[in-house]
Amino acid sequence: MRMVLLGPPGAGKGTQANMLSDREQFEHLSTGDILRENVKEVTFIGKKAQSFMEKGELVPDGMVIEMMLEKINSGDKGRGFILDGFPRTLYQAKKLDIELDRLNLPIDLVIYFRTSIDTVIFRLTGRRLCKDCGANYHIVNMPPREKGLCDKCGGELYLRKDDNKETIEKRLEVYNTQTKELIDYYGAKGILKEVSGDLEADKVYEKLKDILKKE
Ligand code: AP5
Repeated sequence: MRMVLLGPPGAGKGTQANMLSDREQFEHLSTGDILRENVKEVTFIGKKAQSFMEKGELVPDGMVIEMMLEKINSGDKGRGFILDGFPRTLYQAKKLDIELDRLNLPIDLVIYFRTSIDTVIFRLTGRRLCKDCGANYHIVNMPPREKGLCDKCGGELYLRKDDNKETIEKRLEVYNTQTKELIDYYGAKGILKEVSGDLEADKVYEKLKDILKKE
């Protein structure tokens, strides 16, 4: 199964992709995580991407496409993969289709997480991540056992630089103007399914599993 997770920032794409990859052994390819890793390691890509990410703007298509196609090509394609945060523009989607058609591995399913703005803002301002292992928490919805510390590795939790109100608003604007049109693009291909991103994480996961069973 080759899947794309689509939805506004904070819809829960990363959370569900982590659950699916832990429980169903899909490979999880998150553009945001890969870019943040590059920023942390101060790579060529990281240096170029950092300012776009901190402003809540998209990193230029060419750079992201090359990076993601390389990841797809070098991964184990056997069990399938989940693309989280990619594609994010029509141009990226078309380039991805061309490459996957060449490999005879087209996208089977696109999940659109329809999510309200209030949910998105509440989730992003409350999100905390582990500095060491990247585990994802929410100060109200999914708090760690000990405040400020990761349950899995004891690492320190931090707030992402782009999870402030001003940058969240910019990211939402970018989503509405550049990414939302992918709903129609994949809808026209007949591979789009919708779930409510406003539900609790376990409920969303149940819906995803129901969809996967039918596929
Ligand atoms: P990226 O990292 O992809 O950010 P995003 O799309 O804004 O998505 P988020 O990670 O913020 O949200 P999510 O939907 O994964 O939610 P999560 O599961 O974490 O991109 C960052 C930047 O990188 C972009 O702005 C851009 O600059 C660049 N970039 C990335 N991809 C690019 C591309 N293709 N092209 C160009 N540039 C690109 O959940 C959020 C919080 O809510 C967490 O705290 C979680 O614990 C909690 N939560 C999740 N689900 C639930 C639930 N159901 N109920 C209650 N709480 C929940």
